[in-house]
Amino acid sequence: MHQLNDFENRAALDTQLAEQVAALLQAAVNSKGKASIAVSGGSTPKGFFDALSKKDLPWRKITITLADERWVNIDSSDSNTKLVHENLLVNKASDAKFFHLKQGENLCAETLADLNVAAENALLPLDVLILGMGEDGHTASLFPCSEQINEALALDNPSALMKVVPTTAPHERITFTYASLLKSANTFLHISSSSKKAVLEKALSDTNTFEMPIRAFLQHPDVNVQVYWAE
Ligand code: 6PG
Repeated sequence: MHQLNDFENRAALDTQLAEQVAALLQAAVNSKGKASIAVSGGSTPKGFFDALSKKDLPWRKITITLADERWVNIDSSDSNTKLVHENLLVNKASDAKFFHLKQGENLCAETLADLNVAAENALLPLDVLILGMGEDGHTASLFPCSEQINEALALDNPSALMKVVPTTAPHERITFTYASLLKSANTFLHISSSSKKAVLEKALSDTNTFEMPIRAFLQHPDVNVQVYWAE
């Protein structure tokens, strides 16, 4: 299920989303001494990152990661890691820990196995998950066009992280699997523009998750996705 929160403009959305996420991270630290959050890359979240980075939080107890990453050098303009370093791990949030998904040159089985163990130990289940959504209904790097989509959406997939090779978008990716993201305590979908609103409406109008993987979150009966939208 989902709840739509729409805002007059993107700045108002960024302020409110940062406020809400900060409260959830603080509550997690209060109850268990630590908190974890996965954010998405792409072009939408910059303003939100800026607002969140200025929040007074026990950042040293908070681990930030990405819902997915493109397997590119971290100095590439396509790197989500670079985006997060420049826009979220700044100001007060510069004290936060960052869990790197892009490790080494090749996205091989050994790298994935190490990352899976580390992710289980360091940050899963996530306290906060911020998803984005592509025009094709992908979220994280759960791409409908990829050969790996069955495995990526499988509820019995024991891996937290896997490799995905999209055919309609550049770069091979590492992504958290649907099964691992589904366990997040709080899930948000952050989108802007009327074209993304139309994609959202399409996602809500049918149930085939292989056609639009975001449906698997929006239509799950036990997950209440908070959709944050502004033009
Ligand atoms: C990525 C993402 C991806 C993104 C959507 C939306 O690395 O590309 O994590 O899931 O969130 O594609 O991207 P935009 O914000 O650029 O529309």
